[in-house]
Amino acid sequence: MRVVVLTGAGISAESGLSTFRDSGGLWEGHDPMQVATPEAYDDDPGLVQRFYDERRAALARVRPNAAHDALARLEARLGEDLLVVTQNVDDLHERAGSARVHHIHGRLRSAWCTTCDERHPWDGPLGDRPPCPWCGEATLRPDIVWFGEIPYGMDLVERALGECDLFVSIGTSGVVYPAAAFVHWARGTTLELNLEPSAGASDFAESRQGPASRLVPAWVNELLGEGPGTST
Ligand code: OAD
Repeated sequence: MRVVVLTGAGISAESGLSTFRDSGGLWEGHDPMQVATPEAYDDDPGLVQRFYDERRAALARVRPNAAHDALARLEARLGEDLLVVTQNVDDLHERAGSARVHHIHGRLRSAWCTTCDERHPWDGPLGDRPPCPWCGEATLRPDIVWFGEIPYGMDLVERALGECDLFVSIGTSGVVYPAAAFVHWARGTTLELNLEPSAGASDFAESRQGPASRLVPAWVNELLGEGPGTST
């Protein structure tokens, strides 16, 4: 069985990372449009860099939760038949043990040089304008796909969805495209696991509500025939 899983901020919420739209539309005190657009970066690069420096530093203080662990367990069984496509810029899937993870919105622990176009693994701050390790210019920005920019690797995602038997969407509000359209691109049956019905819940064959740390392990158990599942 070929499975494509899409994850959003909701899967990392129980690890202690804020979602984007659950606290009155603010993300760590900011309107996402003020920190997650190329225009915001042009207007005030220092503010945007500081914001992402804080998010990058926060990663060191959190750990994967039972939902990330369950997806790693699923990959251990399905191997290449599972692809996790994530909108998240954290690295909690990888730290839980998943290897087949595609970050369509980029990654916090990566820096992109706008002069030489190289990308570098990055754990420290960017706000102090460090030089690019490749070309030496102080033009590193977060390797994050901002609003108005093109998500990474959509050809790969489209192909995987066109060949899958099951598409599962976990912890995403379903309002940001193209991810919100994946349910329509999926060839197989579709399932949503979310705290509440998402904007696109009625497009899924089935929608289950609850915290990811409970729903995801239960669904993985069900798929692998290992113990009790859940239907709510
Ligand atoms: P959102 O904040 O829009 O949605 C998070 C979803 O997770 C909501 O539907 C919540 O109900 C749900 N949720 C919250 N806690 C949960 C839990 N414990 N278990 C299960 N579900 C839970 O985040 P995304 O949909 O990921 O883009 O946002 C999509 C994109 O918009 C992000 O990647 C980001 C943002 O702006 C960029 O930065 C480009």
